[in-house]
Amino acid sequence: MSGLPSVEITVYPYECDAYGHLNEAAFLQLFERARWDALARGPGQDLFQRHGVWPAVRRAEVDYHLPAFPGDVVRVETEMEKVGRTSLTLRQRALRGAGQLLLAELQIVVVLIDRDGNATPMPEEIAGVFGARMSSRPGEMVRHDVGDVTLAVDSRGDGPALLLVHGYPLDRTLWAHQVATLAGWRRVAPDLRGAGASDAPEGGYSMAAYADDLARLLDRLRIERVVVAGLSMGGYVAFEMWRRHRQRVMGLVLVDTRAEADSADARRRREEMITVARTKGAPAIAERMLPQLLGRSTRQAQPHVVEQVREMICRTPVAGLVGALGAMRDRPDSTGLLASIDVPALVIVGEEDELTPPPLARAMAAAIPGAAITAVPGAGHLSPLEEPTAVTRVMAAFLEAIPRP
Ligand code: MLT
Repeated sequence: MSGLPSVEITVYPYECDAYGHLNEAAFLQLFERARWDALARGPGQDLFQRHGVWPAVRRAEVDYHLPAFPGDVVRVETEMEKVGRTSLTLRQRALRGAGQLLLAELQIVVVLIDRDGNATPMPEEIAGVFGARMSSRPGEMVRHDVGDVTLAVDSRGDGPALLLVHGYPLDRTLWAHQVATLAGWRRVAPDLRGAGASDAPEGGYSMAAYADDLARLLDRLRIERVVVAGLSMGGYVAFEMWRRHRQRVMGLVLVDTRAEADSADARRRREEMITVARTKGAPAIAERMLPQLLGRSTRQAQPHVVEQVREMICRTPVAGLVGALGAMRDRPDSTGLLASIDVPALVIVGEEDELTPPPLARAMAAAIPGAAITAVPGAGHLSPLEEPTAVTRVMAAFLEAIPRP
């Protein structure tokens, strides 16, 4: 997926100023022409009128780099940066010639208004047109409004959808290798509420809230069914997706996770960690968790991975840490659900995982009808990051065998 279609526009003499080139004001008009042309090629220029709304420009900023002259053919690329409840943020780039010289860039925020000029919620079709066309260039993150929070999402590729749900206290970058390489699938890796670059409200955290956020994200992206891959807490969320949104799940990949709820002891430890997060912040959580999260081999041989995970934890907002700890403490037991899983399922566990060790993973896999299990040598609790190639290979083989919708 690559954003709205790019369009080519010829620069006319009357658009140029006394110096004979496009000035910033003229670029604003050129970008506007490009937007309408792109709509004409896609959903139609009457997209907004069909729904009784109008896209009012709230803010537009041109970054001017090089002049354009009469007769130049300028290629304009349009990407969506954010689809909000009532607004869209777009970025447009004007490029010229074989070298694709960047002439100017525009960031524009458009609010949908009704006939009285009031901001109005985005109709589903419009959200779908723009949301489903979010840019998916490597490493590019886009934000989606899913109700009371905005989620940061990496998405890449086309095909049936794979939703990659990270664990605690981590973020979507945990899945960077899988997002980059699982070709043939539309890979969607969000930051859960309270994690990474997503909103981190003070309250409202539970497994149900995480799962409902993700279901709304799928609505936004116009994705009906997905394979859900969840690591650890992401696995708890995957179980909740199965509990609450089963019709949308066409496969499960349960990575370094468990089905059991917290024991009384574990619940007490969650309370202690909530106090640590509140009083000492994310770095103190990182100090305590790093040795548990990463396997012995990784700690010895991959110091860059240790640092990467430390940074990931340290950028997690305290509200998100506290929220996730409470959500995990209060999560329901999912062991009773396992026998009901009637979609293809794969369990992956790091051989050195101390938090959800291989025997636990084997018991979980045995309780899911037909589930496959793979133990990954040299990996601890964060196997997709510690041994990315091995985990991606196992996932690719599993996905290959999933019946396509
Ligand atoms: C995780 O990796 O998501 C957490 O360690 C899970 C947990 O603490 O239960």
